[in-house]
Amino acid sequence: MAKPTHPRFEAISAEQLSAFEGAIAVTVGSDGALGRVVRRLDRMSHGVISRFVETDLFTDLKPGTGHLIVPPPRIKAHALIICKLDRRSLPTDARRAGAAAAGSAAERSLLIVSNQYATAAEMAFGAVLRRYRFDRHKSAGRKKDVGELRVMSPSPEKAATMYDDKGAAAAGVYLTRDLVNEPANVVGTQAFTNQLQEMKPLGLGVSVLGESEMQELGMNALLGVGQGSDSPSFLVAMEWNGGGDEKPLAVVGKGVVFDTGGISIKPAANMEEMTMDMGGAAVVAGLMHVLASRNARANVVGVVGLVENMPDGRAQRPGDIVRSMKGDTIEVINTDAEGRLVLADALWYTQEKYAPEAIIDLATLTGAIIIGLGHEAAGVFSNDDQFCEDFLKSARLEQEGAWRMPVGGNYRKLIKSGKADIKNVGGRPAGSVTAAQFLLNFIREGTPWIHLDIAGVTSLKSRSDFAPRGATGWGVLALDRLVRDRFESGDDA
Ligand code: BES
Ligand code: MN
Ligand code: ZN
Repeated sequence: MAKPTHPRFEAISAEQLSAFEGAIAVTVGSDGALGRVVRRLDRMSHGVISRFVETDLFTDLKPGTGHLIVPPPRIKAHALIICKLDRRSLPTDARRAGAAAAGSAAERSLLIVSNQYATAAEMAFGAVLRRYRFDRHKSAGRKKDVGELRVMSPSPEKAATMYDDKGAAAAGVYLTRDLVNEPANVVGTQAFTNQLQEMKPLGLGVSVLGESEMQELGMNALLGVGQGSDSPSFLVAMEWNGGGDEKPLAVVGKGVVFDTGGISIKPAANMEEMTMDMGGAAVVAGLMHVLASRNARANVVGVVGLVENMPDGRAQRPGDIVRSMKGDTIEVINTDAEGRLVLADALWYTQEKYAPEAIIDLATLTGAIIIGLGHEAAGVFSNDDQFCEDFLKSARLEQEGAWRMPVGGNYRKLIKSGKADIKNVGGRPAGSVTAAQFLLNFIREGTPWIHLDIAGVTSLKSRSDFAPRGATGWGVLALDRLVRDRFESGDDA
């Protein structure tokens, strides 16, 4: 799995500025006033920056974005990237500016310059997120090396220290993106499980349930999904005990390494996109990686259900009735509504085993959420207004789109089954809501719960502010912040 490059933090130096051969990114406030370093660089480059700032190109720049100009040959840099950023802007604006700079610099080396070390650290974070590449399957000579990343500011030690937790977050996001981008022949259920085992040295307790153990526990809903695949199904739990003796927050992910739809098979067009159907599990993995790497003072357990949904002589049929671990029977109307079957047992197991304080699940659950919200926001469903507000706030602060959807009430009726306790689809109306409603059936009364339908945000066809085309890592940062703001104790317990 790819590791983010560590930016090199250094003190401001005129010699270094004029000798640097890649792209230099600087910030200018929307009033157009140049800070000290920028003035220096402007003088070194015959006033190209001050002239640019007077044009309407600069006026029209949105805060947190940048524009590339070619400097005169007096300095060695091949490009100057002028980012618009106000002194009192939000940290995420600096992050966005850093990402924009990395986008403009493409594969070339990038030197970020800022008069404020906090801005420098945040811009570095944005640049690192944006510089992610998934090229391990490209043969030598066909992949471009990403150049170095240097960050110049006053108090570079302080910038570096500030960057520590952000570096941990970036590594988690990279892990999530790698897992999502990898196809199922490379990262199937076994390889995914191995990857999680490899996180043990970080201090995570990792336990794995195989099929026979799950059979004994009565997890027939999850097992039914995987029974048509030659790849074994697993349930993996990752425990991080950084807090006191309080009950953990549980984060549960759908890990369908490939979703053909099963016997209710999907059409061929775009079916390859279903390599990302383990996106929920990948966010859980990335989050646990972050929490352990930055030594979070909280108790969090991450649980993923890893299965492959394939058609086969032994595959589950539409109409089959299975008994879940909870004991409720499920009529499987459509074998393509498999994520909720996996989560039903994963959620129940998590509650039985860990009695969590609160529970969040993530799943690329429905195509319907893409119809509803597009690729801008994940669907957020919850039985607890306060908990939900807390999450929405975290998502907003990390600039990860999230929008609350309803659940409960009369929607319950839509998944009543004639033959069993519940059925796994509710028809076309409110497809994402009935999916959430199905999950809520497997949440104990009184347990605060959030379901995140991430089908639209997990992987994108075009690049976004913080990621190239493909996996985004959506959710890792919002959840890390939620843990920080709501579940971490202030004291050194
Ligand atoms: N993994 C899909 C949902 C999905 C669709 C994720 C598009 C990402 C992009 C899920 O398992 C599924 O197939 N859902 C069905 C449910 C239906 C059969 C009720 C869907 O959305 O069509
Ligand atoms: Mn499906
Ligand atoms: Zn699926």
